[in-house]
Amino acid sequence: MKDDNFIKENNAKHLWHPMGHPADSLANPPKVIVSAQNSSIKDLDGHETVDAVGGLWCVNLGYSNDAVKEAISHQLYDLPYYSSFAGSTNPSAIEASYAVREMFEEDGMSRVFFTSGGSDSVETALRLARQYHRLRGEPNRTKFMSLKKGYHGTHFGGASVNGNNRFRISYEPLLAGCFHLPSPYTYRNPFNETDPAILAQNIAASFEDEIAFQGSGSIAAFIMEPIQGAGGVILPDATFMGLMRDICDRHGILMISDEVITGFGRTGSWSGARHFGVKPDMMTMAKGITSAYFPVGAALIADKVADVFENDTTGEGAIFHGYTYSAHPVGAAAVVACLSEIQRLDTKSNAAARGKQLYEGMLRLKEKYDVIGDVRGGRGLMTGVEIVSDRASKTPMGTPTMKKIHQATYEAGAMVRLGMHNVLMSPPLVITEAEVDQIISALDAGLGAI
Ligand SMILES: Cc1ncc(COP(=O)(O)O)c(C=O)c1O
Repeated sequence: MKDDNFIKENNAKHLWHPMGHPADSLANPPKVIVSAQNSSIKDLDGHETVDAVGGLWCVNLGYSNDAVKEAISHQLYDLPYYSSFAGSTNPSAIEASYAVREMFEEDGMSRVFFTSGGSDSVETALRLARQYHRLRGEPNRTKFMSLKKGYHGTHFGGASVNGNNRFRISYEPLLAGCFHLPSPYTYRNPFNETDPAILAQNIAASFEDEIAFQGSGSIAAFIMEPIQGAGGVILPDATFMGLMRDICDRHGILMISDEVITGFGRTGSWSGARHFGVKPDMMTMAKGITSAYFPVGAALIADKVADVFENDTTGEGAIFHGYTYSAHPVGAAAVVACLSEIQRLDTKSNAAARGKQLYEGMLRLKEKYDVIGDVRGGRGLMTGVEIVSDRASKTPMGTPTMKKIHQATYEAGAMVRLGMHNVLMSPPLVITEAEVDQIISALDAGLGAI
């Protein structure tokens, strides 16, 4: 291992960071995180904070789960890798698919296609949706619909259904045939509607209108996050996902629930769709599936879709899609251990209780600071705080001030994440009451510093 000076001097000289400007990384060296315990992280200078980001909405078990670490290390000795392309498999992959199916059976899921992460899972679901319709004799169903403010990863398919132009403009033209509906975002929406239930109805009407315009026989799938995460933690009305489900059913459109953040307990339920009482046709997973101890994702498939593939006799049901690391034995061992641990610890219940505490803490800060325009959360450990320079006009706070808030919060004891002018929080699901209090007081200090 090189010494600290080498680490500090060399970072951005050779490493390009995802989601950042290379020149900015050179000018403003990032925090170098060297170790972590439970729900806390420590940087190269020895400064320790509570990790209110949970790595990146993913370290749900915190950093000290020995069961998952041991499962990974044992698997490395038994079988570090073998291909799962048709013709070979491995015991951990079989066990992992069984465990995942068991966990999401209540959501109607019966088959698992493993990937290396969330973007891969989204890509898999979009492709399988098109193939499903071809197999059923409706090859013209190729279009995708999604929500503005949605985040579905950065592959070309996922970027095409993404609803935030930051992830799109530099990479256009994207996939043809992708169309977006307004987000269920009560703080800002084109209907000027602050009632979430009425907003949900308005979006449902827009969905029907767009389907009529496109022709329902041309749409393969609708993809949505049950709670939009990276877009700013946007919580829809409790009726919203069900309304979308009904419309999909009425028009033969598959519903893909993108559960990369909301899966595995973050909402206070094991899946976001279950949280809202909806059974999707496919689910996309990653992050919490291994608590990020190993990069794994999965596309989950309901019977209705699986039957069409499995009963195909033409040969067209062959899946010519997959990744070298699909069903990786080490990843699969991590999945099995992680799922067992989250159930043993009942992380979803702690997520619900601590999420409420964090949300209420943020509402109290809103009373104190005029720069807080909107606070979103309360359904598990996903909390967004929208910062504005003027409450009346809702002017988004500028980046330099956001960076100041971030740094002062960090110095006061909590790592938070910025998504433009939003402060986003998604701590480990095993976080304690005292640690949530520490996040609230650190953000209080951060906001007090501007
Ligand atoms: C809802 C959602 N879908 C897909 C992705 C992409 O996942 P990954 O970054 O693992 O490719 C993310 C990542 O944050 C996400 O939040």
